[in-house]
Amino acid sequence: LEDAGVVADWAARFVLQRITQFAPGPGRHFVLGLPTGGTPLGMYRRLIDFYKEGRLSFKYVTTFNMDEYVGLPRDHPESYHYYMWNEFFKHVDIDPGNAHVLDGNAADLVGECRRFEELIAAAGGVHLFIGGIGPDGHIAFNEPGSSLVSRTRVKTLAYDTLEANKRFFGNDISKVPRQALTVGVGTVMDAKEVMILITGVHKSLALAKAVEEGVNHMWTVSAFQQHAQALFVCDEDATLELR
Ligand code: F6R
Repeated sequence: LEDAGVVADWAARFVLQRITQFAPGPGRHFVLGLPTGGTPLGMYRRLIDFYKEGRLSFKYVTTFNMDEYVGLPRDHPESYHYYMWNEFFKHVDIDPGNAHVLDGNAADLVGECRRFEELIAAAGGVHLFIGGIGPDGHIAFNEPGSSLVSRTRVKTLAYDTLEANKRFFGNDISKVPRQALTVGVGTVMDAKEVMILITGVHKSLALAKAVEEGVNHMWTVSAFQQHAQALFVCDEDATLELR
């Protein structure tokens, strides 16, 4: 697609279509997996528009977010709870009890990860998992080298990730959380359908590694070559390295 704006619009219309087609209702929820980051912001804005125009309701939608930092207060502007609430949830009619974000402040982090997997299973699995990737091909906090069958777990972040994220923490690396809770590659692979949004020239190498080379745990997003229904939604810039 032409640019990031068109990707956002396309992705939002895809979500609208999938939810509408499913026709959720009481006892019949559409289950959506969601990312944070810069890439999906435009899609969230379009989904909010659809809600305000009366074209889409989230009343019978259950969501699961990909990841969360460990130890950041919920109301910290960089926490993914804060992001999801401010960029999306508070603007639509989702029941907060159905909007699941991993709790990075849980006393038992391993138990929290297990609970999250159990909640996904109890919801009947994810219908559509939406993801974004990093320039190194990470999806959620599954950095290069993560197991392609990994489940939701505690991850100690790579130094490169801390470096990359310090701009969100006053450029002070000591303020960046060292750990995060994240769904595994296997968790996302279990979704019936996966849609990955990739925009910008800085992601072009990752897109090439994702689709033009073999499945490789050093580029975790390449795992989706083996998914029955995975869709990569890209802008022109992201395709620069494709053959
Ligand atoms: C988000 C996530 C990450 C981001 C990725 C890209 O929950 O898990 O995989 O999607 O880091 O981030 P942006 O969109 O900011 O380039």
